[in-house]
Amino acid sequence: MARLVIVSNRVASPKERAAKAGGLAVALREALSQRGGLWFGWSGETEVNPPEAPKVFRSGRVTYALLDLDPEDQRAHYAGYANGTLWPLCHYRLGLLTFRRADWEGYRRVNEHFARALLPLLKPDDMIWVHDYHFIPLAAELRKLGFAGRIGYFHHIPWPTPEVYLSLPSHAALVDDLSHYDLVGLQTENDVRALLTYISSEIRGWIAPGGTVGLKDRRFRVAAYPIGIDADAFVKDAVKSVGSEEERRLNESLAGRDLAVGVDRLDYSKGLPGKFAAFGELLRSYPEHRSKVTMMQVAPLSRSEVAEYQALRRELEELGGAINGEFAEFDWVPLRYLNRPFQRATLAAIYRRARVGVVTPLRDGMNLVAKEYIAAQDPENPGVLVLSRFAGAADELKGSLLVNPYDIEGMAAAMDRALIMPLEERRERWRTNMEKVETNTIHHWCQRFIDELTTVTDQFGPAGETWGHARPQ
Ligand code: ADP
Ligand code: F6P
Repeated sequence: MARLVIVSNRVASPKERAAKAGGLAVALREALSQRGGLWFGWSGETEVNPPEAPKVFRSGRVTYALLDLDPEDQRAHYAGYANGTLWPLCHYRLGLLTFRRADWEGYRRVNEHFARALLPLLKPDDMIWVHDYHFIPLAAELRKLGFAGRIGYFHHIPWPTPEVYLSLPSHAALVDDLSHYDLVGLQTENDVRALLTYISSEIRGWIAPGGTVGLKDRRFRVAAYPIGIDADAFVKDAVKSVGSEEERRLNESLAGRDLAVGVDRLDYSKGLPGKFAAFGELLRSYPEHRSKVTMMQVAPLSRSEVAEYQALRRELEELGGAINGEFAEFDWVPLRYLNRPFQRATLAAIYRRARVGVVTPLRDGMNLVAKEYIAAQDPENPGVLVLSRFAGAADELKGSLLVNPYDIEGMAAAMDRALIMPLEERRERWRTNMEKVETNTIHHWCQRFIDELTTVTDQFGPAGETWGHARPQ
């Protein structure tokens, strides 16, 4: 069996017990602990003239290799191109997009640096799995250095439609970078359609049935691999929370009221101002819920060095304060707003107690919180998921109340419906959702991607003169 090498910007250190907010680190920790292998990524440290070689250490079956970055390169790479350009682009927020040539160059420099540092750690038959938009050019850099083994890429965030994607000045270069992978995984069929349409209509690539793509003299496959969660672990944590001290404290604080819960990194893609506004609208237009429901929004701080995230934080503090100012009673605070991370077990206890899970991003690749909320429910008395139609999870979780996150009144109506929904309908909707959460777990996701990466190049056939010429219908 080939050794698995995972590359990601964030690496969940084995020493940290506290949960890190962010779907990717959570998912990869699950994936690698099963199979063992090498996890290569950023150390979280910056240093002027950083060493070329990473710090390497082992924990259990996983070898970690962590690389320091030059502070200016790290800024250009992470806050600049990855989160100032690609993140807003892929989340359809063109108004927030900035593009600076210096950031693009810094992004490429960091990818070159990563490739140079990774190469000496590789064996020829290693299988490399690169994660997320921080490292799109990594395969091209590794190929330049002579690595010929299998390399796959998974894009955890949405892939935008061509009209949006074309706003990126470096659009063609970035997809050219993708073509150095053997397999490119996206979250949903919509994302696949968007990328393939761009390739065939804008840069004269060709698409064979089954998603094999030809671009210049290269072939690669593009397919959807919707990510899942460790459903069993979440069920166990949620069941274990029954009768726990945390559950007791939570129940005592709620004093018999219903709970609506939201758990999102403090990110503008998550639609938090709209969610707050919708909760305010619920209390305004459905006054029967006043003093009867509490909303808890857990929103750990994220990317605080980026100006838009600082502005969002201020906006939410103002909106949250306004809702509590308008509706609070001396014995009831409608909105609890917390900027801190929690252990998975605590999150599971909160999800399970919540009659409504409110997951309303303006765009989201998948959204694991939606799946975690479903897994944590009591099958006999489950809560209802109010879910944005623009989250990748909406493709699978058809038992949810699907909403348009731009429609504040529509979201308030869905919250009202969830709060008054009869038990039988809640059970039926939950069963529909849980079936998906249980069958497409993080383990299935990982296995599917790795199986496909293992064999994908066999399907391409030998390089021949038709490569890059014909455009099969
Ligand atoms: P994203 O990857 O954009 O952050 P996801 O919903 O896909 O969004 O994944 C978020 C992950 O981070 C989930 O596994 C969730 O449990 C975790 N998470 C979010 N908020 C917290 C928090 N406050 N404490 C601990 N984990 C959190
Ligand atoms: O899932 C998208 C993602 O950008 C991950 O790559 C990342 O781990 C997570 O969100 C949290 O973001 P960041 O690593 O920038 O804190």
